[in-house]
Amino acid sequence: MKYLLGIDIGTSGTKVSLFDTDFKLIHSYGVEYEVHYPEVGWAEQNPEIWWNAVCSACHKLDSRHLKSVIGIGVTGQMHGLVLLDKDNAIIRPAILWCDQRTQKECDELTQEIGEKTLLELTGNPALPGFTASKIRWVEKHEQDNFKKIAKILLPKDYIVFRLTGCYSSDVSDASGTQLLDIAHRSWSETMIHFLHIHSDQLPLVHESRDIIGGVSKEASKALGILECTPVVAGAGDQAASALGNGLIRPGLMSVTLGSSGVVFAPTATPTSDAFGRVHGFCHAIDQQWHLMGVTQAAGTSLKWVKDELCHEEKTTAKILNEDVYSVINEEIASVPIGSDGLFFLPYLQGERTPHLDSHAKGVFFGLSAYHHRAHMLRATMEGITYSLLDCYEVLKENHLEADHVRLAGGGAKSPLWAQMIADTFNISVERTDVSDAGTLGVALLAGVAVGEASSLEEACEKAIHIKDVFRPNPEATNVYQKGYRIYRALYPALKPIFPLVDTLREKQK
Ligand code: XUL
Repeated sequence: MKYLLGIDIGTSGTKVSLFDTDFKLIHSYGVEYEVHYPEVGWAEQNPEIWWNAVCSACHKLDSRHLKSVIGIGVTGQMHGLVLLDKDNAIIRPAILWCDQRTQKECDELTQEIGEKTLLELTGNPALPGFTASKIRWVEKHEQDNFKKIAKILLPKDYIVFRLTGCYSSDVSDASGTQLLDIAHRSWSETMIHFLHIHSDQLPLVHESRDIIGGVSKEASKALGILECTPVVAGAGDQAASALGNGLIRPGLMSVTLGSSGVVFAPTATPTSDAFGRVHGFCHAIDQQWHLMGVTQAAGTSLKWVKDELCHEEKTTAKILNEDVYSVINEEIASVPIGSDGLFFLPYLQGERTPHLDSHAKGVFFGLSAYHHRAHMLRATMEGITYSLLDCYEVLKENHLEADHVRLAGGGAKSPLWAQMIADTFNISVERTDVSDAGTLGVALLAGVAVGEASSLEEACEKAIHIKDVFRPNPEATNVYQKGYRIYRALYPALKPIFPLVDTLREKQK
């Protein structure tokens, strides 16, 4: 037997999945880790924990399986800044996608480069989540570290480096650095110039399905995978997950409910929203791009209410030997659609699209003595869903309307959430039989690269089947539409107040 390996360097953990050459999942193992929040709004991880997690997860696989791996693909959290010195030592902890410290640096870059140029060149306005402003932050605040930089990598590219010894990136993940010329799928000299770096500090950028090298002797020893096993360039987590969901041509759309929440639509030409309200990136398929809306804290919001409010549910889950999210879902189902007038704005980590506002904060609105914890849980799930609808509305304005979406990510396990999305978006929601779209996406790339399928179309046909479909219920849609009108009025009303909260906190320090 021959196998393909997909590795996903996530924010809360790393997953390693083994597939056969028909792309059927054989085994999947995960290793969890923490995000460090050294200051409010900051988020960091030491890249070494990712590599350790890859090793631990691989060690859970059968060593005979590992020796029969013929191709590897890596995906992971996008936008994170990993800095290596001339000896390949990690200079400082990685600054992650959800870190919000760089609003000032974004304003500077916008001022220097110009909003229009940024949008035309990189498909996006300067955003704190993206890598470019993080580089500027290090230059301004950590001169010594800035001087030591020999290579700038993304999280999954650091793992590709540990696997192969090659510095590489792929067009989909590189799009999220804001250093890529999206239309030409190559690093932008203009961005390199404005960031005061050199092109040799960046890795080579490849198409996602390119084989960039083979497993090194050192990695082979650490993992038990044969030396020289081919490794493809891979893809950022959203493009990989879209591939694993079968989004291989324009006209299709997906919603991913992970730590962040994403609405993703492939396009046939480089595309950006005229106001930069959603991201315009390269897809992990040659000559395709995509528009993507990202609500920063989707699963993160639900995890937050679980951790802060759901001690009873945790105990119940333990007694019943159930997942705590199943218990939470049952409670949510006990509350009427619209949460009896309670709303939640899921801006726990500022907000990316469509508001592009790092000052935005999480809010419960409309609380009364009548409401219970279950209302707060339902309002949280509804708020995340409305926030995804905000993104979908912008895609529609860009003529990317769909009659169905495919659902992926951890949240897709909940039929209640799938139905909520169908009702709120007023479109059909399909779930596939794929249990982890991200690792499958990069295994598909590796499989095609090593000749196990003649095309991505053929690989997707083998790998992905529709499991169930949730159709919108007009009565529910009606209630959600009324709720959405109220939800939509809340952000503009609170926008001027959010930054005042930051000043209050600064004064107390
Ligand atoms: C995409 C994004 C997130 C992270 C973490 O733009 O920021 O999807 O990659 O999942």
